[in-house]
Amino acid sequence: MGDERTGLIVGDILEAVRDVIRRHRVSYPEYRRAIEFLAGAGQAGELPLLCDVLLESVVDETTRQAPGATDSNVEGPFFAAGAPELGAAAGDDEPVRLPMRPDEPGDPLLFTGTVRSTDGSPLAGAVLDVWQANAAGRYSRFAPGLPEWNLRGRVTTGGDGRFAIRTVVPHAYDIPGEPHTAQVLRLLGLEPHRPAHVHVRLEAAGHFPLTTQVYFAGDPWLEHDVVGAARPSLVTKLEPADGPGFTCRFDFTLAPAG
Ligand code: BEZ
Ligand code: FE
Repeated sequence: MGDERTGLIVGDILEAVRDVIRRHRVSYPEYRRAIEFLAGAGQAGELPLLCDVLLESVVDETTRQAPGATDSNVEGPFFAAGAPELGAAAGDDEPVRLPMRPDEPGDPLLFTGTVRSTDGSPLAGAVLDVWQANAAGRYSRFAPGLPEWNLRGRVTTGGDGRFAIRTVVPHAYDIPGEPHTAQVLRLLGLEPHRPAHVHVRLEAAGHFPLTTQVYFAGDPWLEHDVVGAARPSLVTKLEPADGPGFTCRFDFTLAPAG
């Protein structure tokens, strides 16, 4: 982003904040308390979470979506670069397994689909970087006591653009109770719930990358997502599997670049 645009945006933010100070006649103690709050959130490493909860879905909405592509969705604060490369499934019967504990709690889930270009042609060799909460609603690398890459991995599509991933059904979760974020949500009267979802970042040669999430029909929090990110176009259905657990299918479409 160029200096000129940054200056314009920073100027507008300042003008908006000055307007709030004037309208509410913010007092000196209130002003100092606000600065202490921001400094404390920064020191606690909580600003990414706080900003993603309150602001990121607006950035996602206003970022131009590639026509014909699957809707994008917020990345959120729990992505970690460098997840293990898991290769391609040999078919729905031999899915790629996300790294998980031998006794990983939760319902087994087979997540399948096809990645296509907007003209309908399947995209072989597309990479899906997948990350999700576990059945207790917690993310590896952010919650203590979980193996580093638990329920995270990079999966490649086969020659027919298909992928098949063995995982567990993620649980809906509450935004972790970090004190600054919790305090803001309480002040705003917001419940901290997010519907269950699987995050996916897709990349394929010659196509715009896509960051999105897949949600599940019937989740009571779809209508009450504190982040305001859940979209009907990204909802799929959990179907009972032949064996234990569930299957779900979601096809992704990527737009050609240039
Ligand atoms: C998430 O999808 O995990 C998330 C997104 C925005 C804020 C917090 C969490
Ligand atoms: Fe998430």
